[in-house]
Amino acid sequence: MDASCRICSGPVKAFVDLGRQPRGNAFPRAGQVADEFRYQLVVGMCDTCTMVQLMADIPQEVRYHDEYPYHASNSVVHSRHFEGLARHFLDKELTGPDPFIAEIGSNDGVMLATIAAAGVRHLGIEPSTQVAEMSRARGVRVLSQFFDESSAGPIRAEHGPADVMFGANVIAHISHLASVLKGAKKLLGPGGVFVFEEPYLGSVIEQTAFDILYDEHSFVFSVRAIQAAAEPYGLELVDAEPVALHGGSMRYTLGQPGARPVGPGVPALLAAEAAQGLGEHATLEAFARRAERIRDELTALVGSLRAEGRTVVGYGAPAKITTVTNYCGFGPDVIPFVCDSTPSKQGRVVAGSHIPVVTPAVFAESDADYAILFAWNHAEEIMAKERAFAARGGRWLLYVPEVHIV
Ligand code: TMP
Ligand code: ZN
Repeated sequence: MDASCRICSGPVKAFVDLGRQPRGNAFPRAGQVADEFRYQLVVGMCDTCTMVQLMADIPQEVRYHDEYPYHASNSVVHSRHFEGLARHFLDKELTGPDPFIAEIGSNDGVMLATIAAAGVRHLGIEPSTQVAEMSRARGVRVLSQFFDESSAGPIRAEHGPADVMFGANVIAHISHLASVLKGAKKLLGPGGVFVFEEPYLGSVIEQTAFDILYDEHSFVFSVRAIQAAAEPYGLELVDAEPVALHGGSMRYTLGQPGARPVGPGVPALLAAEAAQGLGEHATLEAFARRAERIRDELTALVGSLRAEGRTVVGYGAPAKITTVTNYCGFGPDVIPFVCDSTPSKQGRVVAGSHIPVVTPAVFAESDADYAILFAWNHAEEIMAKERAFAARGGRWLLYVPEVHIV
């Protein structure tokens, strides 16, 4: 499979193939699975700029549908994180006269609600209508559309230049990233910053978190690749800072060239990435082999537990579960259900593997012996919440960074 880089048009070379996969967040109803969309989940790296990207092109309209089920506020830890970030922007960036902040993919308003409560001018740009409605109910102003080069002009004309542009777990989703960067160049004021935080390639490789790969993640960013991507679009990477969310993320700050000093995080992280071999194909191919080993060990372990008469269920149905269960060939015959706190996922099934999603109450009342923690990035919060499971002898089964029982 050959492709050219979405950022620099260089040649992209595949390093991992996770098989034919449906959309990670589709969560169809049990009766709707007949004609599921599928594509080959192959991920590659650009030889020229090192950007890691999905080889297939999936139309974004089929991804962020009106029922897009991801609600950022579901996790207490995440809610606190974004409230803290909003306060940081209010204290440090939104201090001039009549400041303005725009958020790409504002989801249910988890960050902008704090900005709105402070009475600061803001705009969420969110194409999924259901989550946009949820944020409106919190007093957040939202435009229901995609952000790109062409929407940036009218937004600037109506609201003026942005002091802050923000995006969390959304910028790496946008396959037309080049157009977003052009749009950011247009919308940002002279001293403005474009801040985004996304799952970090270094953490994905370090933890063999292969399940971060699914249709929505058009890219997996590194500091080196973001620096290279920003420059041709007239933006400069001025800061980079690790964030402990989603199993390891990075917060990138872009500015107008020369407008801000480059923080020490940038050279330090570039050096760490070089030492980790992040821009090298051999490193990524070794990751692919570790992913295969995890798949083989997980299927073998679940198989032997079931052979002993144990029940193995799932906990948490993030989009990641779609990648893992389809890659491992797990269906409801192996994993009878997975519980998730998101109401819009309950009563539906995981795409492709068709494992039913139930409420956490069903899990609590079950006599499951093992629970695979698919929402492994929320392990602490979930294990604390479900202490009763371990107390009655239930065991957690994790597969990142390797297959182990807790
Ligand atoms: P995320 O990793 O993309 O934030 O998704 C986490 C998923 O796990 C989401 O579908 C909600 C679910 N979840 C629970 O079911 N219970 C919990 O306590 C937490 C924190 C998340
Ligand atoms: Zn490239």
